[in-house]
Amino acid sequence: MSPNRDRVMIFDTTLRDGEQSPGCSMTQPEKLRIAKALAELGVDVIEAGFPAASRGDWESVNAVAREVQGPIICGLARCNRDDIKLAADAVRPASNRRVHVFLATSAIHREYKLNMARDEIIRMAVEGVKAARELVEDVEFSPEDASRTELEFLAQVVEAVIDAGATTVNIPDTVGYTVPDEFAELFRYLRKNVRGIDKVRLSVHCHDDLGMAVANSLTAVVAGARQIECTINGIGERAGNCSLEEVVMALKTREAFFNLETRIKTNKLYPTSRMLANIVAMPIPRNKAVVGENAFAHESGIHQHGMLKHHSTYEIMRPQDVGLTRSSLVLGKHSGRHALKERIKELGFVVDDLEFARVFEEFKALADKKKELFDGDIEALVLQAENSAAGPWSLKNLRTVAESDQVAQATVQLQHSDGRLVEQRASGDGPVDAAFTAIEQATGIDVTLQKFELRSVSVGEDAQGEALVYVEYNKRSYRGSSVSTNIVESAAEAFLEVINRIELAQASLAKSQDERTGAARTAQAAV
Ligand code: KIV
Ligand code: ZN
Repeated sequence: MSPNRDRVMIFDTTLRDGEQSPGCSMTQPEKLRIAKALAELGVDVIEAGFPAASRGDWESVNAVAREVQGPIICGLARCNRDDIKLAADAVRPASNRRVHVFLATSAIHREYKLNMARDEIIRMAVEGVKAARELVEDVEFSPEDASRTELEFLAQVVEAVIDAGATTVNIPDTVGYTVPDEFAELFRYLRKNVRGIDKVRLSVHCHDDLGMAVANSLTAVVAGARQIECTINGIGERAGNCSLEEVVMALKTREAFFNLETRIKTNKLYPTSRMLANIVAMPIPRNKAVVGENAFAHESGIHQHGMLKHHSTYEIMRPQDVGLTRSSLVLGKHSGRHALKERIKELGFVVDDLEFARVFEEFKALADKKKELFDGDIEALVLQAENSAAGPWSLKNLRTVAESDQVAQATVQLQHSDGRLVEQRASGDGPVDAAFTAIEQATGIDVTLQKFELRSVSVGEDAQGEALVYVEYNKRSYRGSSVSTNIVESAAEAFLEVINRIELAQASLAKSQDERTGAARTAQAAV
């Protein structure tokens, strides 16, 4: 770190605020994979979840605290002793741990949500921070909806929580309402009017409802914030949160302006972004800043001419700075282990020996079907292989018959991890519909299909197709994705992933119900 440059901490909340976005819920193994990737990326804090939300959330936060080294592991809590204790217990195994307590402060939230007066809010915030400080050293406090809170009241709350022992004070723009000048003014006001403000780290947390989350976070940093709360690909409630890759690259690209640095290894941004997009089945828009497919593409003749003369004419960042090392190198069935391993490394992915063995096997199988394998194919192989341990059902065989003037037929053969081998035939409006129906009938899980998307992951006529399937089941959304050269097969595999997620969710629900019944029986016996 340069001696005269301040550091901004990067607080990643992909696993908490990000996971709250519709359709982005993740399983515990997926959360662990993301948390490990975030540690590799160099984030300072991982907000691993909201432990009081459910037993599953508590367990995920606890697993991250046990297994992920490096960053501070943080758990979110409402301002009450039960939540705070759950959060503190969940993060206890981490060598660096934090509890993040929040309470809404704006007039709208006080009146309609909490039905509490100003002095009650201050009392509750102070009690919450004190309760957290009894359990952990590192306590963050967030006045929810701060940007719509009366300034002088916000200053009173912030001063009170600093006195109570908060070590970080985070200022959220919860509903993405503020604009850069106003938000900078808010930070300046707090720095001028709150006694003890220099004792704490000021943090910023912005939502993107008006598309200004990154701009508002940067302006807060100029006005004194030294922690930015953000998520990979900007996923989060409604329009999302401040996007980590954008805010980090803005600080790096405009270093001379901000005179600030982060610990992020920016060449890991692209693979981390792809990994998350794959896990939550939310493709990155082509024109997304920093990590979109078009972010470094130059189409117009004038631009291409300029680029040929010197890349800096139209390029403010280098693709390799964000880990986008697209090459024209093509692999094929004669490429060996070493070439594949090197390419995977160059693409920024870290795979262990076991995973590599699986990827190599699938690489060979794919190279038999497809002459040339491009970066997109390799990336899809790695990401799919990481996903593939997922569920109880696997597709043994799929046969479809589709003629333009007849109803399509599909026969699936599915293997369950409990030993069952089920074969089912169904008809449908095209081979994909028939395959989905056959899978539903074979597994006994009847879902409502909400969305089905197909996209190509690489180039050429034999390019692989990625299928994304989104369904609703028991009022909850589930998703699945799969990649194959055969799009009907990739659709069926993606659909089966959805079924697996539903079965796993049901099993974990049944387990927690059993535990609750067991606990109730024990309590009754004690009476
Ligand atoms: O947006 C928000 O206000 C939050 C808080 C819990 C920090 O997510
Ligand atoms: Zn938020």
